[in-house]
Amino acid sequence: MRHARLFASAVAALFGAVRATSSTNCTVDAIQAALPTNATVLNVTSVAQGGEFGQGDADIPYPTNPTNLTSLCAVIVNATSSAESSFTFGVFLPDSWNARFLAVGNGGFAGGINWLSMADGPPYGFASMSTDTGHSGDFLDMSFALNSDERKVDWGYRAMHESVVLAKSIVTAYYGTAPAYSYFTGCSTGGRQALKEVQMFPEDFDGVMAGCPSWWTTHQQTWQLEVGLINLPENTSHYIHPDTFNWISDQVITQCDEADGIKDGIIMDPKKCDFYYEAMLCSGPNATAEPGTSCLNADQIRTLENLHRPLAFGNNTWVYPNFGLGSEAQMASSFGDVGTNAPSLYGTQYVQYMVVGDASWDFHDFNYDIIRQADAENPGNASANNFDLSPFLARGGKLLQYHGLADGLIPTDASVYLYRQILSTMTGLGRSNSSSIDDWYRFFLVPGMHHCNNDVGDAPWLFGGSGQSQNLNPPRAAGTIESLLDAEHDALLALMRWVENGTAPERLVATKFVNDTVDLGVLRQRPLCPFPRYAQYVGAGNVSEAASWECMDRVGL
Ligand SMILES: *[C@@H]1O[C@H](CO)[C@@H](O)[C@H](O)[C@H]1NC(C)=O
Ligand SMILES: *[C@@H]1O[C@H](CO)[C@@H](O)[C@H](O)[C@H]1NC(C)=O
Ligand SMILES: *[C@@H]1O[C@H](CO)[C@@H](O)[C@H](O)[C@H]1NC(C)=O
Ligand SMILES: *[C@@H]1O[C@H](CO)[C@@H](O)[C@H](O)[C@H]1NC(C)=O
Ligand SMILES: *[C@@H]1O[C@H](CO)[C@@H](O)[C@H](O)[C@H]1NC(C)=O
Ligand SMILES: *[C@@H]1O[C@H](CO)[C@@H](O)[C@H](O)[C@H]1NC(C)=O
Ligand SMILES: *[C@@H]1O[C@H](CO)[C@@H](O)[C@H](O)[C@H]1NC(C)=O
Ligand SMILES: *[C@@H]1O[C@H](CO)[C@@H](O)[C@H](O)[C@H]1NC(C)=O
Ligand SMILES: *[C@@H]1O[C@H](CO)[C@@H](O)[C@H](O)[C@H]1NC(C)=O
Ligand SMILES: *[C@@H]1O[C@H](CO)[C@@H](O)[C@H](O)[C@H]1NC(C)=O
Ligand SMILES: *[C@@H]1O[C@H](CO)[C@@H](O)[C@H](O)[C@H]1NC(C)=O
Ligand SMILES: *[C@@H]1O[C@H](CO)[C@@H](O)[C@H](O)[C@H]1NC(C)=O
Repeated sequence: MRHARLFASAVAALFGAVRATSSTNCTVDAIQAALPTNATVLNVTSVAQGGEFGQGDADIPYPTNPTNLTSLCAVIVNATSSAESSFTFGVFLPDSWNARFLAVGNGGFAGGINWLSMADGPPYGFASMSTDTGHSGDFLDMSFALNSDERKVDWGYRAMHESVVLAKSIVTAYYGTAPAYSYFTGCSTGGRQALKEVQMFPEDFDGVMAGCPSWWTTHQQTWQLEVGLINLPENTSHYIHPDTFNWISDQVITQCDEADGIKDGIIMDPKKCDFYYEAMLCSGPNATAEPGTSCLNADQIRTLENLHRPLAFGNNTWVYPNFGLGSEAQMASSFGDVGTNAPSLYGTQYVQYMVVGDASWDFHDFNYDIIRQADAENPGNASANNFDLSPFLARGGKLLQYHGLADGLIPTDASVYLYRQILSTMTGLGRSNSSSIDDWYRFFLVPGMHHCNNDVGDAPWLFGGSGQSQNLNPPRAAGTIESLLDAEHDALLALMRWVENGTAPERLVATKFVNDTVDLGVLRQRPLCPFPRYAQYVGAGNVSEAASWECMDRVGL
């Protein structure tokens, strides 16, 4: 208790006034009074300091309840989105409120309130919110969308926006005053949700963090089918067993690590590496690589090349990037399970339930006409592909995007492409009078980081990105790691400073704890630089310390 009070005052010092409230408004009647009649309060619970809340196993994708909560009021609401669809959302209303609102995103096709990510908010003082996106179901399950345009749209963007609007009403009524600032943070699907909000509802948020966004739904999900098919059927001469990818990752690091001038296991820029695949070729009489063996046959070399090569339509028009060099250790999780002889359900389920509307559609029938069909329909309007962000710019919004350079689930270059499209739309097409979008949009590449969190080669990956701290060992809420609670080490605090004080993040410092365990101390820290700038060792000092690196401009800029 004493510790909690000390901590609350540390947060107060960070954010200025912290409003203390009693929980007299933490009742079903008080919350219901803030809502229209088509929204129904399902649960209002007062949670004591150090307590737990969530829906347990009833929440299929997010069954783990957050613990060690600050004292707060927890709310669950169900609301109608159309005659045939509805969504639920959860809200945490902390007793020590920083007068701000934070919405968090989901992952994959997850239909459930993301309680663990929501729990990141209250230690900073945020009232936080998460939506179930309009259905109940697991990450890889898209059956909810079958023959329901309304549920597609709820997943695409609507349930998030309407949850945000209703949650803000609750926050305003509960504290008797509207939030001074509103923020969004999400990774993967959450990154896509972040961008849909920026594009369609620019008034919803002052500051938005979009991590590793699966923003181009029609191409991302069909790409997942294509890469699965590249490495199928199983146990043929060109098939690479998932167990072999860690070894391939080691070979890529061996060849590419020093392209940045420092031998430390971290590939700072994969594009600087001229990777020579044939170094992995099996030699001698037994030129057939078995799972886990340390060589690839000639067919497998071709498979690996195809997993790195961007996809193009038959007319040579670019479709989507592919896996970056250095992402091999996570690549295996983009394929279907061994023994199924099928690609990832992220691809198949999307085509079955979102595109063709036929549960019996067979992935063997995949061809690029499916991508054309998906583009023509943009099911659920899910793709966040409107690059004209002038309404968000005009309302003073700030957008912070990041992507791991070792992401084996969403190609890093999808984020680079997004950045370049927004840049050219906003400046090249004259939608902004500034030749720079740096004032309101910054994008950080994270060397060695996998999808959203964790790493290859002991690369620093923790910087206050969405949901990251839940992947520490043991997991804990962001904002409870006091040594990182400043605008340089915590991207959420950096975003707040940018929105509220006008100080844009010139760099973020990412941290790697020994064994990802906070109590074991820091192993490495290194700056992340706003694209297209990049971090370079200054030539002296410990490479594991952030002070030994600086952000460099590209030659010619
Ligand atoms: C509300 O949540 C609390 C805590 O999980 C639980 O004990 C209670 O049964 C819930 N009530 C309803 C109506 O769901
Ligand atoms: C939410 O409300 C809809 C009707 O508006 C209902 O069909 C659905 O079962 C409700 N969901 C929950 C979780 O109560
Ligand atoms: C729910 O009620 C609000 C307020 O009356 C209204 O704006 C909204 O359109 C309604 N939603 C549906 C799906 O009926
Ligand atoms: C309870 O809500 C009312 C408005 O609905 C507000 O004026 C009051 O300050 C709130 N009470 C507390 C203790 O926050
Ligand atoms: C080839 O396979 C045979 C039999 O499994 C084994 O004894 C031999 O060491 C292998 N040779 C090479 C070069 O891997
Ligand atoms: C190539 O095919 C794509 C997809 O059908 C189409 O959008 C594009 O316009 C075509 N490009 C050319 C040069 O025909
Ligand atoms: C391929 O071989 C693996 C054993 O290495 C086995 O587990 C898997 O079931 C096989 N796949 C098929 C489709 O038979
Ligand atoms: C789809 O999203 C775009 C903005 O990204 C918006 O202009 C359009 O109205 C949306 N269409 C539908 C049917 O929701
Ligand atoms: C650019 O500047 C001109 C002249 O000052 C102004 O009329 C126009 O609205 C500006 N456009 C944008 C997008 O800010
Ligand atoms: C529990 O939360 C408090 C802040 O509310 C924090 O200081 C403490 O480190 C947390 N404990 C753990 C084990 O996460
Ligand atoms: C804004 O700057 C003031 C003065 O330096 C500081 O106290 C406050 O914490 C800053 N706010 C944010 C959100 O960084
Ligand atoms: C880190 O983890 C490894 C493997 O789990 C273990 O062998 C090692 O002892 C741990 N190091 C520390 C300092 O705890």
